[in-house]
Amino acid sequence: MGKKITDKVTWVGKIDWELKHFHGDELSTNRGSSYNSYLIRDQKTALIDTVWQPYDTEFVARLKEEIDLDRIDYIIMNHNEIDHSGALPELMREIPDTPIYCTAKGEAIIRGHYHQDWNFVNVKTGDTLELGETTLTFIEATMLHWPDTMFTYMSGENILFSNDGFGQHFATETLYNDTVDASELYYEAEKYYANILNPFSMMATKKVNEILAMNLPITLICPSHGVIWKDEPTQIITKYLEWADAYQENQVTIIYDTMWNSTRAMAEAIAAGIQSVDPMVRVKLMNAAKDDKSDIMTEVFRAKAVLVGTPTINNGYSFAIAGILELMKGLKFKKKKAAAFGSYGWSGEAVKQITEKLGTAGFEAVNDGYRTLWVPDQEQIEKCREFGAEFARAL
Ligand code: FEO
Repeated sequence: MGKKITDKVTWVGKIDWELKHFHGDELSTNRGSSYNSYLIRDQKTALIDTVWQPYDTEFVARLKEEIDLDRIDYIIMNHNEIDHSGALPELMREIPDTPIYCTAKGEAIIRGHYHQDWNFVNVKTGDTLELGETTLTFIEATMLHWPDTMFTYMSGENILFSNDGFGQHFATETLYNDTVDASELYYEAEKYYANILNPFSMMATKKVNEILAMNLPITLICPSHGVIWKDEPTQIITKYLEWADAYQENQVTIIYDTMWNSTRAMAEAIAAGIQSVDPMVRVKLMNAAKDDKSDIMTEVFRAKAVLVGTPTINNGYSFAIAGILELMKGLKFKKKKAAAFGSYGWSGEAVKQITEKLGTAGFEAVNDGYRTLWVPDQEQIEKCREFGAEFARAL
């Protein structure tokens, strides 16, 4: 059965406690997720979004317990990535003529995914759909985070259905932000922003300001993943404005890989050097081969500066560091300083290569990096400390 949100809105989604990887293996979802779908019953009935394809038959079966499917007048697809549109084919087998409201890009994506000639109605910002006592208004949210994305605002009940925006991969049976552990929730919301929305921060700022300028009363923000923002719902809007503005905290994140602990010893000495200059700066060390890559990106997002270390192997850098550098480049972090370090045995190219790579990823390299030959002795460890101290002074 669904979960009642208001007299007119019922949550009919799927909570996925088992989900640990998303987008293939691109993103970790250690606290699970949910695919939120909402049924609005006014004089007319509308369904907002569906769920991921593996749960399609379960979704349709549970929806049937809630309502005679023939009574659904409209399907609203805010975003058509498969985690939200995956149950459409199963649903449309039952109600094939029901109109699907989405952006023109949304129609193209649904057609591209499912190759069906369904009854599409294209909408753009400002278009409305009267349901009776309530009205839906569509707001395009292009590239937040796909070209088709839109939000739907329900006046009368003052609900913003924001799809991925303001969402989190966070499984909970209790649905609301004031019923879960706040620090866990905020970690997942921030991780979601850092790993999915950060490249589109300019659009996020513009869209959030556009919504604020509309002066819409907002009682609930209902995203398509995780909790519904009910207690002070606009807190997450304020947070998005902060996160979208080249966010950083007083933190330095050191990411390294190590073969025989030489680069790890360098990382620890550099961390000590940074703290000798600024005892208040939070320094986090993360092993690229052992720590979760999505958590590493979250710590890059929080940092004002990043150090990347690797041993030189096969005239280059390590496999794990290569992946981390690709993620750092793709997520388009802004206004962060950086430097490279690492140990080597003979050729020693990796530090120079990483320094260049950090530059092309949009980081400001503050120096040419630092490397040590073989296993660092006490004198070399001292030099690593001094390298860390100099790095901290450059911030
Ligand atoms: Fe939750 Fe972009 O899909």
